[in-house]
Amino acid sequence: MNVILLGPPGAGKGTQARLLVEQRGMVQLSTGDMLREAQASGSAMGRRVAEVMARGALVSDDIVIGLIEERLRSGTGGGAIFDGFPRTLAQADALEALLARLGQRIDAVIELRVDDAVLVDRVSGRYVCGNCGEVWHDRTRPTRVPGVCDACGSTDLRRRADDNETSLRQRLMEYYKKTAPLIGYYHAKGLLAPVDGLAPVAEVAAAIRAVLDAPPGGLDARSERP
Ligand code: AP5
Repeated sequence: MNVILLGPPGAGKGTQARLLVEQRGMVQLSTGDMLREAQASGSAMGRRVAEVMARGALVSDDIVIGLIEERLRSGTGGGAIFDGFPRTLAQADALEALLARLGQRIDAVIELRVDDAVLVDRVSGRYVCGNCGEVWHDRTRPTRVPGVCDACGSTDLRRRADDNETSLRQRLMEYYKKTAPLIGYYHAKGLLAPVDGLAPVAEVAAAIRAVLDAPPGGLDARSERP
């Protein structure tokens, strides 16, 4: 099964993707994480995209499509959760073509609906474990022991360089200009499932589970499923 998580920065895509990995054995394909890994590795591509990401703009389609293509070629086992990809119509068309070549398709597109008003708080309070990737929040989801990840015990807790109000404003603008048109695109294909992203994490997860148990695209033998 292949699922897209669509929503603005801070909507909860990463949080929900991690739960799906745990619960359904799916693979999380986050282009944001892939790009941050490229930056941390010091590769030429990582250096090129660092400045683009810091100011909240979108990285070029060819770079992110290349990253996804590489990951899809190495296999996704029980299915993939696309977290933060696609973000443009060109990326959506490329994903459909890549999956078709593998005899697969998108089964559902979950649109996490949130109000912009909550996003500043979500993004400015977020910190992430540098070791296992678990996502925390100062107020709504703090670690039990300050400075120590509950999930893996690491003390490598980090804040993202682009998690500030200026960059968030730019990321939101990019979202509405280039990514929000995908809502209509997937609605027209009968794949869109809106979910209330303002509900508590567990309730959002339950709503997503219900969608995946009866995906809008139907269950099809062409698609890998867990
Ligand atoms: P990326 O890393 O994808 O960031 P994003 O889309 O801006 O999304 P976020 O990771 O900020 O938020 P999220 O929805 O995952 O929320 P989270 O679960 O963490 O992209 C970063 C940059 O990389 C882009 O700006 C761009 O430059 C580049 N990029 C990436 N993909 C690209 C692409 N395809 N094309 C071009 N460029 C690309 O939750 C946020 C916080 O809220 C957390 O603290 C969490 O604990 C809390 N929270 C989550 N859910 C709830 C809830 N239900 N209730 C209360 N709190 C909650």
